[in-house]
Parts: sequence; structure tokens; C-alpha cells
Amino acid sequence: MNILVLGKDGQLGKAYQGLFQSLLVPAGVQIQYLGRAQCDLTRPEVLLEILEQSKPNLIINTAAYTAVDKAETEEDLAYAINATAPEQMAIYAVKHGATLLHYSTDYVFDGSKSGFYVEDDARNPLGVYGKSKAAGEVAIEKVFTQSSSGQFAIFRTSWVYGEGGNFIRTILRLAKERGELRVIQDQYGVPTSANWLAKTSLDLALDSQWQLHQFASGIYHAVPSGETSWHHLACLAVQEVQKLGIPLKAQVASIKPILAVEYPLPAPRPMNSRMDTAKLRAALGQSLSKTSNSYNDSRNEPIFPEWDGLVKEYLSQLQQQNLL
Ligand SMILES: NC(=O)c1ccc[n+]([C@@H]2O[C@H](COP(=O)([O-])OP(=O)(O)OC[C@H]3O[C@@H](n4cnc5c(N)ncnc54)[C@H](OP(=O)(O)O)[C@@H]3O)[C@@H](O)[C@H]2O)c1
Repeated sequence: MNILVLGKDGQLGKAYQGLFQSLLVPAGVQIQYLGRAQCDLTRPEVLLEILEQSKPNLIINTAAYTAVDKAETEEDLAYAINATAPEQMAIYAVKHGATLLHYSTDYVFDGSKSGFYVEDDARNPLGVYGKSKAAGEVAIEKVFTQSSSGQFAIFRTSWVYGEGGNFIRTILRLAKERGELRVIQDQYGVPTSANWLAKTSLDLALDSQWQLHQFASGIYHAVPSGETSWHHLACLAVQEVQKLGIPLKAQVASIKPILAVEYPLPAPRPMNSRMDTAKLRAALGQSLSKTSNSYNDSRNEPIFPEWDGLVKEYLSQLQQQNLL
């Protein structure tokens, strides 16, 4: 088994590195991590050469152009990284019978649905980032429909936090600097731990012998249970950090809820980012029961825990690392 992780320096890439380091990787399983310096995804010829040389059976593409607002003026770059490069990975996977795990976003939707989005709901991205990620989804699907070889999963996720810059870290930095914060209360979604996402994705892909599972290729919504708003998430983060004994200038009561229209940004965001995870739950139920257990014998927590418990876990990890 030869595993290639692309995007090693991003939040999800680092989560994969931590996950693999925490597991007993059997002899015969090689894992290679590449970042921008080793594999610049704007250069398809470099990507193809690396794929052909290292011949992975499992490609995990965590790399992406994620600068949502900047994408409005860097359309070509966003499409090169988020659409063309994943298409090349799909072409390789089909040619060599490999498995491709790729990540997409709630931003492929316009947010006008009142309930939870399901995988088959129509894409209608509002900004360039979402359009480039949607183009990546379409390109991968198209390559795989032309062949019965290889398999792919596109995990659509939202509000990711891990090792790196994210909303929670920004709020905590601001809460140290200012006595009052203003946070959007009318956009809804599900905060997703990068560690949880890496673990849950591997549950679909690998069995207890570190062999590839066969699963139904397609898009899977991958977020923890529950839902929240940015405002509620900010309040929870501030409250928990105070409970951990860290002094902040801002208090929960001084985090003012505002409307998204009061905080205009270059790229429009979906008001509703909530995604239904029934498809992934069903697929994991099947893939985990196919063999006695997953590659990760130590997993005894619920597969889809509530989002707030994972945020609390993240905050105590930040404290242990002196990052609060
Ligand atoms: N973050 C979120 O809230 C969120 C929400 C929904 C979906 N997602 C999706 O989840 C996945 C993981 O996101 P994340 O939060 O881990 O993103 P991230 O922290 O921004 O990491 C993205 C990584 O991609 C790398 N990258 C960018 N341009 C590249 C290039 N030209 N060549 C090679 N690598 C390049 C970056 O490299 P450098 O470190 O060198 O910059 C970075 O390490 C992505 O597919 C993203 O679209 C994220």
C-alpha cells in the first residue's frame, strides 16, 4: 500500500500526519506527504510526474486554494488548484486503479435551502472559490464516469478548524485584544474538526488490514452532528477558554450578534451551510461492518459526535500546546 497525502502543511494535511503518526502503520505501508514546495499544483506536469513516479494506490488530496475573498480576483489560480489539479489526480487514479480522496465545500451551495443539503442538491456557488471547488467536483465525477477502474470519494465539509488559521483562532485572538466583538448570527453551519475529518475519511477508505475498502464512488457530506451559527460558535469558544482559566478582554455578553449584511465581504457566503450526513453514515456502517473493525482499532467514540464536544476538545489541545 502506497499512500500519498497532498497539502501536508494545511489544517487537514497536518491532521492526517498526526493521525498516521498515532497509528501502528504496518510494514509494507508507505506514506508520503507533499506540500506546495514539493508539488506545486499549479504545475500539472510536476503533479503527473510525481504520481507516475511514486505510484500511490491511495491519493489523499487535502491541498486547495482556500482564500475565499482573494479568489474573487485570482480566478485562474483558484481553478488551476481546485479544478485542474484534482482532475489530473482522477485521470491518474482511473489509469492505475487507485483510490482518490478529495475534499470540497459547503460553498458549492447558494445557501437558500431551508433544511439540510443532501449530496444531490443542485450546486449553485455564489463566489469564485465555490465555483472552482464545484468545477473540481464535476471534473472528478466526469473522469470516473468514463471508466470502471479506480474509485473516489469527495468529502464536502464546512467550517474546518485544526492546526493553522481558522475562525476559532481568529475569535480568540480578537477576544484578547478587544472588549467587544461583533459576530454574524444569521449564517448557519457545522464546525468541523480537521482531526475528526481525517479519521472519518480513512474509515471509509481503509479496512483493519490497511487494505482499501470498496465503497460507492461519489460525493459524501462529512461534518459532525448538530448545527450552529458563527455567533454561537464564538460565544462557546470564549466561554470555554475562560473556563480553562485564560483571561480574555471580551466576555460572552460583549459578543454582539450582527447580520451578515452588516459585515460585507468581497465574496458572498451561503446563509445556510448545513449538510445532511445520512449517506456517509450509511456507507460507514457498511464499510465498518464488512470487516470486524476499521484500520483504527482504538476508535471507540461515536463516529458522528456533536460539533461542540469536538470544539471543546480542540480548545483543550490548544491549551496543552500553549497556543491559547
Ligand atoms: N478551511 C475551511 O473552513 C474549509 C471549509 C470547507 C471545505 N474546506 C476544504 O477542505 C480541504 C482542506 O482545507 P484546509 O482547511 O486544510 O485548507 P488550508 O489549511 O488552507 O490548506 C490548504 C493547503 O493547500 C496548499 N496549497 C495551496 N496552493 C497550493 C499549490 N499551488 N500547490 C500545492 N499546495 C497548495 C496550501 O499550501 P501552503 O501551506 O504552502 O499555503 C495549504 O497547505 C480543502 O479542500 C478545502 O477546500 C475547507
